[in-house]
Amino acid sequence: KPKLFIFDLDGVITDTAEFHFLAWKQLAEELGITIDRRFNEELKGISRMESLEKILALDPALQGMPLEEKKRLAEKKNDHYKELIRTITPDHILPGVEPLIKRIKEEGILLALGSASKNAPAVLQRLGLYEDFDLIVDPAKVKKGKPDPEIFTKAADHFRVPYSACVGVEDSAAGIEAINRAGMFSVGVGSADVLSASAYIVPDTSRLDFDRIVEKFNRARE
Ligand code: BG6
Ligand code: MG
Repeated sequence: KPKLFIFDLDGVITDTAEFHFLAWKQLAEELGITIDRRFNEELKGISRMESLEKILALDPALQGMPLEEKKRLAEKKNDHYKELIRTITPDHILPGVEPLIKRIKEEGILLALGSASKNAPAVLQRLGLYEDFDLIVDPAKVKKGKPDPEIFTKAADHFRVPYSACVGVEDSAAGIEAINRAGMFSVGVGSADVLSASAYIVPDTSRLDFDRIVEKFNRARE
């Protein structure tokens, strides 16, 4: 069986992917840009600054913005986001996640968080899940974000666990690519057209089942 599970946060443990979208949408509107959910798929899993760059790239009139101004806009988006996450309680844990975490712990398997979000510790605290994680990788110390495998390999290296003994759970295309490039077993949560590269895919978190994941993991490792 696997030795380490590495979970993404936003869109996997709780629906903060939606809050990130709403916060970016609000900021974009303040800049006179409209973004939709389809475009938002490209923002999932990547850092705050990279997301801002992708939004600014939509409008030719916004090119060549000074770094200071970009930082101010990124900060503004984060203020919108922080306002939204104030409402989070343990009731906001997505279905299927708590039983999966419970089984992982019972089986003596390590649990890490591999999220690009600097707000991740605060969100886990609000959900009441902070103590369940053996490690939260600090995204500020990760040089290359998803789809680079670094955030996932850092978690495995911390525990000296071989990458082939790790399972990564993700809702973003960038995250699935990162897990695959790390040589880990990728579990995708969401639609098959976005996450087709996943080693195993479920349509939503309620379908995350420990035994099923381990069965698929073992089959892939044969
Ligand atoms: C990722 C989200 O987990 O974290 C992205 O999928 C988000 O949408 C990124 O932009 C960075 O988050 P934060 O909280 O540091 O702005
Ligand atoms: Mg995510």
